[in-house]
Amino acid sequence: MAFDFISGQITAQKSQARYRQRVCVQSTESVGQHEGTLIHVDGKSYLNFSSNDYLGLNNHSEINKAMEEGAMRFGLCASASSLVTGFHYAHQALEDKVCQWLNKPRCLLFTSGFSANVALFHALGQEVGQNKAHFFLDKLSHASMIDGAFESKAKVKRFAHNNVEQLTHLLASSDSQNKLIASEGVFSMDGDQAELAELSKVAKTNDAWLYVDDAHSIGVIGEQGQGSASILSGDNQADITMATFGKAIATSGAFLACDENVHEYLINFARHYIYSTAISPALAWATIKSIDLIQQEQWRRDKIIELSALFIKLLDPSIEVIPTTSSIHAIIVGDEQKALNVSEQLKKQGLWLTAIRPPTVSIGSSRLRVTICSNHNQSDINHLARCLNKALCR
Ligand SMILES: Cc1ncc(COP(=O)(O)O)c(C=O)c1O
Repeated sequence: MAFDFISGQITAQKSQARYRQRVCVQSTESVGQHEGTLIHVDGKSYLNFSSNDYLGLNNHSEINKAMEEGAMRFGLCASASSLVTGFHYAHQALEDKVCQWLNKPRCLLFTSGFSANVALFHALGQEVGQNKAHFFLDKLSHASMIDGAFESKAKVKRFAHNNVEQLTHLLASSDSQNKLIASEGVFSMDGDQAELAELSKVAKTNDAWLYVDDAHSIGVIGEQGQGSASILSGDNQADITMATFGKAIATSGAFLACDENVHEYLINFARHYIYSTAISPALAWATIKSIDLIQQEQWRRDKIIELSALFIKLLDPSIEVIPTTSSIHAIIVGDEQKALNVSEQLKKQGLWLTAIRPPTVSIGSSRLRVTICSNHNQSDINHLARCLNKALCR
């Protein structure tokens, strides 16, 4: 029978406690102090600690208003790819905004972070003449970086997480003229940061480029939320930065920020850019408003820091949390079934905390990934810490 591996694979997922299911969130709600932190699933309300809306900007009235204004001026749909007639004034304005915010010469918009990453690795991994590119990826890099790199024509090496020494050895043994070091700025499932200053130094010494995926730090880290790569300045800047609009920025889509040359090259050779309808111009317009708020409202970043410190203080010291300066607090539980059980137990206390299991994380490192957002409050954190202490310390 055709494709009879399908049911076998599903059965195997179930037997390993790795079966994945979607839940339908019926609404998010602004009730009193709980602005947008409550989700409704199957008729019940839960305090959400699994959202990537780090700055609490989703459903912000000014962003929604900008979306409406953008829809009236440009329409919801770009109605063509960017190289045909899909590149609107709203896209140009958003590109300019990102460039000015990140102090980068150029920027290119994509419909998702996934496609931006795949496009970048495909485009830079093209084999021109005898020159095969070599990509060096941190082991914990996102699936989209791994897929893009391995599906390209480049040779790919992965270095142990944040292990700059191993990376240095790998670079030394590379004879490619075109070397690219790639890392997430803040790691999505661990919440810790890349050693960007070190990576930049190693890149310069080895005549390599540095690529930073700042999906989880854009908005959250940096004086105006420019992301973790903003600690690098002048000649030490990352050569290319990617970030998605779908997390702290609370809209949808993504950008690659780069120099003039790479920008021109991507417009001509990045297949995911060329052969895809441009992002919604109304969304692009709304995204500009969101970035304005992110630049102006430092209190949102301060609140994450304050509530994160409270969370760690209240959590039983025996609970293992990966140290972080981001919104993401990963509590390693180990076993898949145990992570699922704790997640179910928390649901009964009105808390939503999705269990993260292999293959998203390595075997034996199933975890609860807590995200603390600017719209949580102290009593939310108290409740979360109390329930986690009860569930994990017996
Ligand atoms: C590190 C990282 N890069 C890229 C992406 C993909 O971004 P998007 O959701 O916009 O496709 C994600 C999203 O989950 C991510 O965590």
